[in-house]
Amino acid sequence: MSSSAKLILNDQECEFPIIEGSEGEIGLSIRSLRGATGAITLDPGYGNTGSCRSAITFIDGEKGILRYRGYPIEELAQSSNFVEICHLLVHEELPNAPQLAEFTNLLTRHSMLHEDMKKFFEGYPKTAHPMSILSSMISSLGTFYAEDEDSLELNIIRLISKIPTIAALSYKKAIGQPAVYPRNDLDYTSNFLHMMFAVPAEAYEVPEVVAKALDMLLILHADHEQNCSTSTARMVGSSGASLFASISAAISALSGPLHGGANQKVIEQLKMIEADGGDFQKYVNKAKDKNDDFRLMGFGHRVYKNFDPRSRILKGEADKVLENLGVDDPLLGLAKSLEEIALEDEYFIERRLYPNVDFYSGIIYRAMGIPTEMFTVMFALGRLPGWIAHWKEMNGDPETRINRPRQIYTGATERCYVAVADR
Ligand code: SDX
Repeated sequence: MSSSAKLILNDQECEFPIIEGSEGEIGLSIRSLRGATGAITLDPGYGNTGSCRSAITFIDGEKGILRYRGYPIEELAQSSNFVEICHLLVHEELPNAPQLAEFTNLLTRHSMLHEDMKKFFEGYPKTAHPMSILSSMISSLGTFYAEDEDSLELNIIRLISKIPTIAALSYKKAIGQPAVYPRNDLDYTSNFLHMMFAVPAEAYEVPEVVAKALDMLLILHADHEQNCSTSTARMVGSSGASLFASISAAISALSGPLHGGANQKVIEQLKMIEADGGDFQKYVNKAKDKNDDFRLMGFGHRVYKNFDPRSRILKGEADKVLENLGVDDPLLGLAKSLEEIALEDEYFIERRLYPNVDFYSGIIYRAMGIPTEMFTVMFALGRLPGWIAHWKEMNGDPETRINRPRQIYTGATERCYVAVADR
């Protein structure tokens, strides 16, 4: 492997060092490019551009590999739990028993919101999307808690611990039910489900199969290297903005239908196809039609040009959860037929478009009784430890500078001002 790459530009030859990662990925370090040549690179969407070095998550899109700090996602989904994964991502290692006990206790003890934060909910309209509420509430945490260096570790606990409480409260607000407070005798995932579905009138027993399935969904969503929302958390944090402000920005980035908002769109699309007589071939054809901006939501990925390992796990989990819950959801059959048709279609094969993490997750959330509008909030609950881990890593990286990309200007060249009377 050569240690540098040569560029010849206008008869000028420059060399750029090659950086190699622990899994053999290589990158050209072009820090000196503009100084040496006056030129910049142009890479809309950053498909070929690395923004940092990171030790958190490794993805091999060609082989469908996803590992959190070296552990394969399949093993973690099978054997770990979400609280352990939060510790692994944020503190770099799986916790031993005393560390897990302490981390769990901290998460349990910080799950309540300041009572004054409940007043914010009174101002939102019933129809407010829970992602808008979540982003504002997370940013507002910064008005209740100091965000100095010493408070960082406690603020990380506060974020992971309070996000389920905020999410459940936004759901209760939307359906006009009273808030259910967190309980210290329930584990992380059961506590969230209890806050979502318990009602004052009767005791609510969290179904174990639902708590287990949700825990796995949160694990599968916990991190995914430099995706749009994680890069947003890093970019906002690179200006010195606080953790709460950076996570709030990441939530907003996740809400887009091309990113985390896709899981809600997948279900809406499956329902539309079902209402249209289940004619999925018609919608596959629409997705292929260049003149039609219709896309098969839950399909395709910037990195995975082979299957998304998470969607493989979720496909199996969907069967299991629906069977355990005795739910017969026709949308699951529709999704499977859509996947079958698409994966045999030249258009999808040529572009290596496979189901991504959002394709099956919504079907499992539906079986759990989680409303469609809350699906992207569930994605945010899962992704939070990943955002935090990347924000911490960025702030601790000596290479970090404020993120400020360049551009190629294509607007008007210099011209003189003309008074309005003369225009
Ligand atoms: C997530 O980055 C991450 O890691 C994200 C994520 C995470 O964990 O953080 O994995 C979570 O966001 C998953 C993606 C969820 N979004 C969707 O399911 C929305 C539908 N998918 C697409 O919009 C698209 O595939 C993206 C946004 C996911 C990826 O977009 P890219 O990489 O910019 O790909 P592209 O738009 O350039 O598409 C390449 C080609 C194009 O056709 P041509 O111009 O080459 O003829 O594939 C086509 C696209 O038209 N294409 C699709 C398609 N996705 C891509 N055609 C039909 N249906 C689709 N879903």
